[in-house]
Amino acid sequence: MRKIPFFSFTGMHPLLRDEMTRAFHTFYDSGWYVLGEGTKRFEDEWAAYCGVSHAITVADGLDAIVLALQACDVGPGDEVIVPSNTYIASWLAATQLGATIVPVEPDPRTFNIDVNRIQAAITPNTKVIMPVNLYGQPCLLEEIMVLAKRHDVLVVEDNAQSQGALYKGKMTGSYGDINATSFYPGKNLGALGEAGAVTTDNIELANKLRALRNYGSHKKYHNLYLGRNGRMDELQAHFLSIKLNFLNVWNLQRKAIAKQYNEELQHADQILLPLIAENCDSVYHQYVILSERRDELQTFLADRGIGTLIHYPIPPHLQPAYAQLNWQIGDFPIAERLANQMLSLPIYPGLTEDDVEYITRMIKNFR
Ligand SMILES: Cc1ncc(COP(=O)(O)O)c(C=O)c1O
Repeated sequence: MRKIPFFSFTGMHPLLRDEMTRAFHTFYDSGWYVLGEGTKRFEDEWAAYCGVSHAITVADGLDAIVLALQACDVGPGDEVIVPSNTYIASWLAATQLGATIVPVEPDPRTFNIDVNRIQAAITPNTKVIMPVNLYGQPCLLEEIMVLAKRHDVLVVEDNAQSQGALYKGKMTGSYGDINATSFYPGKNLGALGEAGAVTTDNIELANKLRALRNYGSHKKYHNLYLGRNGRMDELQAHFLSIKLNFLNVWNLQRKAIAKQYNEELQHADQILLPLIAENCDSVYHQYVILSERRDELQTFLADRGIGTLIHYPIPPHLQPAYAQLNWQIGDFPIAERLANQMLSLPIYPGLTEDDVEYITRMIKNFR
């Protein structure tokens, strides 16, 4: 039977093998394995790519959000507005700093946090709004920034899933006071292990973030803040510098696959296709469809060799980890409905037109 995995590196990594191997040798021979020249270079490249003044690499995407919130002095008594439909990292970061989570429902068709609902969630205790650009699509970032400024709150953008996406022609990951990203291997720009980064145009926040990821220290054994060891591996910087050169090409390949899905599935019964909002240029980290018979459809596709995933099957408010907050089924009905209906189809560089044609043909055969 034909097999199409949900995700594969085979369209990306074989191409880079020689260059990556050379980079490993350079790293190995340098004798400098943490915060070295490779990290400095990649931070400059990432800042330039995002169109911001400062990039600070960190251990992973969760650390990026925790450190961003810590740099904003988020702590007990502060409220952080997060999407009800998101990966749990956005919530955990706020919780780990002792802040209060204030979930806001998404637009049911774009899946991103609904700007019109953010306003109602703002209180005198709101410290940060955290838009998460999910599945490759920007949130309405300009509108969120305007709202935040009007209420004197900060914005930490979670751009883990949308590297290279544009809102009104400007890069995601450049709108917030601080922007966090993850270079988890499966991201549009993925390391070969754990890695992440924060970006900002604010030099004071940049300096604080550099210290926070390094035991709260700018100078060895002098500790200004209660920081952590949140440093990215130097080796990942060498690898990421190489992969960054391919990010735009890979994003174009994702967009071409999405276009083919849109065209071939436009008349398919029983499913809704992802809606990209006006002014948003998505980089399709995921291609997420909605089906009321999602579980049956997933099994039907699996039986035909097609891998799919659900992002995400349980919304954060219903996770056992948040049981102490006593949220119930029905508290965030849009997030809950999405969790029951969303299905992510394969989308990655190397997936062929023929693969997509097979996947869409099978979806149309589902009765
Ligand atoms: C939206 C979002 N935020 C944060 C993270 C956390 O990143 P990491 O897995 O590198 O900690 C991820 C990915 O895993 C994510 O998808």
